Amino acid sequence: MKGLILSGGKGTRLYPLTYTNAKQLIPVANKPVLVRVIESIRDAGVDEIGIVIGQTGPQIQEVIGDGSKYGVKLTYIPQESPDGLAHAVKISKPFLGEDRFVMFLGDNVIQGGIGQLISDFAHSDWNSQIVLKEVENPRSYGVAKLRGDGSIEQLIEKPKDPPSNLALVGIYMFDPNIWQAVSSIKPSARGELEITDAIQWLIDAGKQVYPHVHKGWWIDTGKPTDMLEANSLVLEELIPNIAPDAIIENSQIDRRVTVEHGAKIINSVVRGPTIIGEDTVIENSYIGPFTSIYHHVTVQNCEIERSIILEHSSLSDLGVRMQDSLVGRHATVHRNDEKPRALKMNIGDHSNLWVV
Ligand code: G1P
Repeated sequence: MKGLILSGGKGTRLYPLTYTNAKQLIPVANKPVLVRVIESIRDAGVDEIGIVIGQTGPQIQEVIGDGSKYGVKLTYIPQESPDGLAHAVKISKPFLGEDRFVMFLGDNVIQGGIGQLISDFAHSDWNSQIVLKEVENPRSYGVAKLRGDGSIEQLIEKPKDPPSNLALVGIYMFDPNIWQAVSSIKPSARGELEITDAIQWLIDAGKQVYPHVHKGWWIDTGKPTDMLEANSLVLEELIPNIAPDAIIENSQIDRRVTVEHGAKIINSVVRGPTIIGEDTVIENSYIGPFTSIYHHVTVQNCEIERSIILEHSSLSDLGVRMQDSLVGRHATVHRNDEKPRALKMNIGDHSNLWVV
C-alpha cells in the first residue's frame, strides 16, 4: 500500500499567516499539521508516500525534505494549478501505479490515527473506504447520505441542502478502480474535479465503497478557529515531558505541561495542557491552558491563554490577557507607554485585530 498526501492550496482563510507559510506547515501543539499527517500514515505501516504540492511546494520541500527524518520515502508531485482533489489523484498515477493507496488531506487532523482504518481496508475486498464524521455544519464539506443498511446512497460536495450531517473526512482509500473514475468525471460548478464525484462514480459503477463512521474528533484546519480547536484537542492528548536541559526557576508548572529543549521559565505560572518550544523564554508571565508557544519566542509580563504563537516572536507587558489568538512568525506585540497614548500598528494584509 502507498500513501498520497495532498498539500496544495493557498490557505486564504488563514491569511495573513499563509502569505508566508504553507497552511500545512502551521504547527499544532508545536508540530506542523503536515508532519502529523506523515507520521500517522507511517505509524499505520505505510512508508512510501507521495505529496502533491502547489505554489507553496518549495517551502514544503525545504521543511519536510526527503522524509528520512520521519522514517519514510517521499516523492513530490507538483500540481500546476489547483484543479481539484480528483485531479491531484489523476496526476499521481505514475507514482501510485496499480497499488492500493490511502489519500490524506495535508490539513486534516484526526484522533486516534489511521492504523485500524488501513488494516480494515487491507484485509477487505472493498474497492474504496471513506471516513465520515457527524458535524454541525455539513454545508462546508462533502456529505454522505446512507441507506438504512448503512451503505452509501449518495455523496454530494458542499450541498446547500444537506441530506445528512455526515461529512466526508479528508482520508480516503482506493484500489485501481479509481483511475477510471477520475478519468470519467467532469469538472464541478467550481471548476474542479471533485473527489466526491469520483467516489460517486465508483458507487454508480457498482464498486464497493465502505463508509467508516469515525467516533473520535476530526478537524479540517482551514480557519483560525479550527487551528485553535485542533491545537486544544492535540494538546490534551500530548504526553507531557520536561526536557532535561530546560531551566525552570521560581515557577509553578502544571503536570500537563511540555517544555522543550533549552526553554527557560522564570517567575511564571504555566497551566496545562500547554507546550513551550525550544529556546523560548517565559518570564513574569501566566501561560494558561491550550496554549502552544513555538521555538525561540520571548514572553515577558504577559498573560496568554488558548493561543498559538509561532517562532521568533516577542510579546511583553500586554496589560490585558491575550486569548484565542494566533501570532505569526517574527511578530512583536508590546505595550506602548509613550505619549500620546495610542495604538500603534504595523499589521499585514488580511490581519484581524480586536482591541479592548
Ligand atoms: C475537501 C473535500 C470535502 C471534504 C473536505 C474535508 O474540501 O472536497 O469533500 O469534506 O475536504 O476536509 P475542501 O477542504 O477542499 O473545501
